[in-house]
Amino acid sequence: MTSSEIRKAYLDFFAARGHSVVPSAPLLPENDPTTLFTGSGMQPMVPFLLGEPHPSGTRIADAQKCFRSQDIEEVGDNRHTTFFEMLGNWSLGDYFKREQVAWMFEFLTRELSLDPSRLYVTVFRGNDQIARDEETVAYWKEAFASVGMSAEAVDFSERDGMESGRIFYYDEKKNWWSRSGIPNAMPVGEPGGPDTEMFWDFGAERRLHETSAFASGPCHVNCDCGRFVEIGNNVFMQYKRTESGFELLPKQNVDFGGGLERMAAAVGDDPDMFRIDLFDRARSAVESVTAKMYGANSDETFAFRVMLDHLRAATFLIADGVLPSNKDQGYYVRRLIRRAVRFGNKIGAKDAFCGTVASAYVETYREAYPELVDKSEIIVSEMTKEEAKFKASLDKGLREFEKSFAKTGAVLGVDAFNLYQSYGFPWELTEELALEHGQVVDRAVFRDEFKKHQELSRAGSEQKFAGGLADHSAEVVRLHTATHMLHCALRQVLGDHVLQRGSNITAERLRFDFSHPERMTQEQIRQVEDIVNEHIRKALPVHFEIVDLEEAKRRGAIGVFEDKYASLGGKIKVYFIGDKAAEEYFSKEVCGGPHVENTSEIGEFHIVKEEPVAAGIRRIKAIVNASTTNS
Ligand code: ALA
Repeated sequence: MTSSEIRKAYLDFFAARGHSVVPSAPLLPENDPTTLFTGSGMQPMVPFLLGEPHPSGTRIADAQKCFRSQDIEEVGDNRHTTFFEMLGNWSLGDYFKREQVAWMFEFLTRELSLDPSRLYVTVFRGNDQIARDEETVAYWKEAFASVGMSAEAVDFSERDGMESGRIFYYDEKKNWWSRSGIPNAMPVGEPGGPDTEMFWDFGAERRLHETSAFASGPCHVNCDCGRFVEIGNNVFMQYKRTESGFELLPKQNVDFGGGLERMAAAVGDDPDMFRIDLFDRARSAVESVTAKMYGANSDETFAFRVMLDHLRAATFLIADGVLPSNKDQGYYVRRLIRRAVRFGNKIGAKDAFCGTVASAYVETYREAYPELVDKSEIIVSEMTKEEAKFKASLDKGLREFEKSFAKTGAVLGVDAFNLYQSYGFPWELTEELALEHGQVVDRAVFRDEFKKHQELSRAGSEQKFAGGLADHSAEVVRLHTATHMLHCALRQVLGDHVLQRGSNITAERLRFDFSHPERMTQEQIRQVEDIVNEHIRKALPVHFEIVDLEEAKRRGAIGVFEDKYASLGGKIKVYFIGDKAAEEYFSKEVCGGPHVENTSEIGEFHIVKEEPVAAGIRRIKAIVNASTTNS
């Protein structure tokens, strides 16, 4: 089976079991300030897992583009990538453990024809607050029994490894899932739950003895020796973190996520993910530019994987609107491209290659992700520009690095800063170079230098990235409703040509991009503020309805109709601000939510900035001052 066939088989399988198949959300989360990127299929589902009704119903499935920047440095082995596609299915208070386990077993063994004797699973062992998941074990036993296998369930022990059973109980470090990890690391409001993971056994001969701490002694599914790969995780999203512990969510949910690429590797029974078909074209492109064969030797293989992974991630990120820069998400795109260029350089690429490899990916994903085709020009030109910019200084920077290392025998924080400042070396690149020379660089010094030079600090993005933070905080929800009001007020003041072109909300401010050809006057800004504040003071109720696309249009809703909520079922969610009985609405807008219940919760609205972002597009930043009118 090709990867595309696996993707289709999965979505068809769940569609046949009553799921609405929804399109992938973008890699840049919408209105979610807690993370920089969409890193799992559940992220766009958070409001629905917390209890908001999903317009497409209680059974949802998709293939979601994911990017995990924290894995950049993991790339190089046979299975880690920063970008991947996560196949997902969700029960939003509908089916639960029994169905999920049975379906997964059926999908893996029948649809993908994976040999059940090479599947292993793990379950949650329980802790002092949450019970041991014996129920799930019973369903796995039934599933294996259906193919005539008896499946032993045992507590995992390092001494016995995987020889002693098929179902292993692990603790919360392995079998609890939330965006921020173990139960105690979860911020208040964050959803999570016990999970059950599925592993494919590539066979004992596949153990990577040379890299593994487990080169001797029994192997186990989580031991990272390369023999096993996790091909999917069923999370039973039942709990929400509270101040004092946990409470049950209003409904019991299933959140399944499985890496498409890993499933494809299992189906092809080759543990090297970079050999699956999705990399074929790009791998050939790298082979031509470097005049090297993939797999010929391990250093080169490492470099190939970095190039293949990073340029694929950058391709998808640029398509979703993230351009290389020194700030926030753009910094990661810059880092990905520059790291790929350095590794290409290392293994002999003479000519520019980023654009060529990106084009190979555009071809590969032509059907599944047509946005790559639409954006192919900008993808190739941004890659090529960034590559040229960096290449011009890479060799000089490397020479500079060697020179100062030879002089001092160390890599200092100031060196890292100079390389950054003069040669465009991202901090992590110098850190990596230093490690290759057995050195650790003092990051605090680098940071101080950075601040001293009053560069745009990345600290903000690091903090944001520190892990799944809060869920939709009250600040964000208030700003979200204020954004809808701003949108309407702008249309009243400037005209109907005003349409949303982008939105981003943090706990501190909203940012709204919209189509408008010229700078707004002070008077217009004041009018917009007045209109919004007047309607906040009217204490208008806010509610939503789930309607057909046609009905939404007929009733005059504005917003992004083509967004992810306009799923195949044709239903979308529309938020109304105003008097429902009288059907007098200030705002009607297509949106996933969540929102405040009443505009009086918002506070006083202020526009702090109005500026251009691109030809014909303006940007407003605004804040709300909660203390004045908030009840
Ligand atoms: N949300 C779960 C994960 O990312 C399925 O592993």
